Amino acid sequence: MATGTSDNPSAAPAAGYAGAPPEAIQFHYDVGVDFYRIWLDPLLVYSAARWRGPLEQGPPSIRTLEEAQLAKLDFHLDAVRVQECASLLDVGCGWGALMKRARDRGVERAVGLTLSQDQEDYVRTQQWSGIEVRRESYEVFAPEQPFDAIVSIGAFEHFVRPGYEPAQRQAIYRNFFERCRGWLRKGGVLSLQSICWGYVDRAYAAKAVPVWIFPDSDLPWPSEVFEAANPFFDVIYAESRGEDYALTLREWLKRLRANKAEIIAAHGEKLFDQYEKYLRRCTYAFENNTVTLMRFVMSRRG
Ligand SMILES: C[S@@+](CC[C@H](N)C(=O)[O-])C[C@H]1O[C@@H](n2cnc3c(N)ncnc32)[C@H](O)[C@@H]1O
Repeated sequence: MATGTSDNPSAAPAAGYAGAPPEAIQFHYDVGVDFYRIWLDPLLVYSAARWRGPLEQGPPSIRTLEEAQLAKLDFHLDAVRVQECASLLDVGCGWGALMKRARDRGVERAVGLTLSQDQEDYVRTQQWSGIEVRRESYEVFAPEQPFDAIVSIGAFEHFVRPGYEPAQRQAIYRNFFERCRGWLRKGGVLSLQSICWGYVDRAYAAKAVPVWIFPDSDLPWPSEVFEAANPFFDVIYAESRGEDYALTLREWLKRLRANKAEIIAAHGEKLFDQYEKYLRRCTYAFENNTVTLMRFVMSRRG
């Protein structure tokens, strides 16, 4: 099992994948881009949008999913000071929206990692100049040159599996941060977004992961992220915004239900039911604080 330490960076997950393996990722993401196109926004962003700043009061200032997703992408790009960056790595790039936005904002070269065949094919088909997609885990990625910035949105949730001991989890997370530190130029910033466990006890959490839709994945605790990152990064900003995911899930659910007939005709009733249940349950989990959505902005140490 994973044994990576700061003294021995290459010792982590030796045999195979420590987190969700490609088959598990493909089980979820390779349903076909046409399915996701029906209920995601046109950029195919598959993670919590950002509907307002953390200290804003009252109803969300942003009204549409499309604007809120763009605001989220720009939050991360602003966090890594994109205007000063020529190169950017996206760990868990999905269908490439963040990389495309980074290019539009002046980044010359963006590299994205995914384990999904569909996502790799989709990004390649776009033929976006300056954008490279690799179907490769962060666990084996070995770039030749450092990056000016790293963003990772919605991938960290796949890095450990249910049932791992706290020490195994910590070793895996530390390995991720150590690798990211090694890939970043001096002074570079990592902006990380992940669902985290909220106000629940560990025994409950162990049973609450929707393994029927996300096999082989488990969530981090915020304290695990801080602890694992600490030797390698200075956390310069963190926010807990469960509401951001609840609002996003509500919007996805609305779109999924509005297109029920089309989804069932193209993909079958079982898939519709599974996603309806998963989006509904996850909305509830964010609303009752079982889980939260965290964003961490981290500056490379040393
Ligand atoms: C929820 S999607 C988020 C995609 C994108 N960041 C977005 O916000 O739309 C999770 C992504 O993480 C990727 N992923 C999961 N485990 C990974 C790993 N070990 N290495 C690289 N990417 C991984 C998946 O392939 C997928 O692209």
